[in-house]
Amino acid sequence: MENPKIKVQNLNLFIGKQQILKNVNVEIPEKKITIIIGPSGCGKTTLLKSLNRLTDIYEDINVQGNIFINNEDILNTKTDITILRKKMGLLSQRPYPLPMNIYDNIAYGLRISGRKQKKYLDKRVEHYLKQANLWDEVKDRLKSPASALSIGQQQRLCLARGLAVDPEIILADEPTSALDPISSQYIEEKFVQLKEHYTIIMVTHILRQARRIADYVVFMYLGEIIEQGTAEEFFNNPQQEKTKAYLKGLFN
Ligand SMILES: Nc1ncnc2c1ncn2[C@@H]1O[C@H](COP(=O)(O)OP(=O)(O)OP(=O)(O)O)[C@@H](O)[C@H]1O
Ligand SMILES: [Mg+2]
Repeated sequence: MENPKIKVQNLNLFIGKQQILKNVNVEIPEKKITIIIGPSGCGKTTLLKSLNRLTDIYEDINVQGNIFINNEDILNTKTDITILRKKMGLLSQRPYPLPMNIYDNIAYGLRISGRKQKKYLDKRVEHYLKQANLWDEVKDRLKSPASALSIGQQQRLCLARGLAVDPEIILADEPTSALDPISSQYIEEKFVQLKEHYTIIMVTHILRQARRIADYVVFMYLGEIIEQGTAEEFFNNPQQEKTKAYLKGLFN
């Protein structure tokens, strides 16, 4: 792959004595949707979290290897974690809006980065809520608590909040698994639009979802990468027996 946005090289990750990731080598293309799939417990979340070093908080963790983001090794250089995390928006399985009103959920990050004028904030809040397809539903109740929104709306709010810090990369861990079908479709459609500007990496175990939106696919099994490639290669011409069996639904 030419100029991958992210390049993971020989990544081994242990928690205590258990090896969770085994010699992982992955390349993530820029401004595309990469889908990480594989059975429960195979290490998808762990791999995703390694990319912005959220795994640092695990007790008894040992990580070896290299993770290059924009050609900088975030594991082995004196990477500033705050700057690293600012490059990445994170969506988790369940939405975690901040315990404040809808407006402040978006404005919070902007204020932290020094933007405090009301007029500016009003504009940006509207912009990001529109980007996340939420504006029309909340424009008349921006001062209500975020917790009063439906789960699907909360997930879109979290997406808007993530976009507001102006990331380069969006990490999403089964972002639709708690959502109803319509809200899930919103998120999928949004990702397809957003990839014009962002590198998107999404974990899912829903094969149909992967087929719908993936440009690039990484298939994991028991902590190892079994196969990776463009969605077309992966789905139409898988090379490994394990991949073929997984695609046939022989295990999940
Ligand atoms: N903080 C932790 N401490 C100990 N073991 C952990 C920790 N986090 C994950 N694991 C173990 O690492 C392995 C991989 O977990 P991970 O959450 O990455 O899998 P996953 O592919 O995301 O699974 P799922 O599809 O169920 O979300 C599992 O065996 C899990 O029990
Ligand atoms: Mg997981």
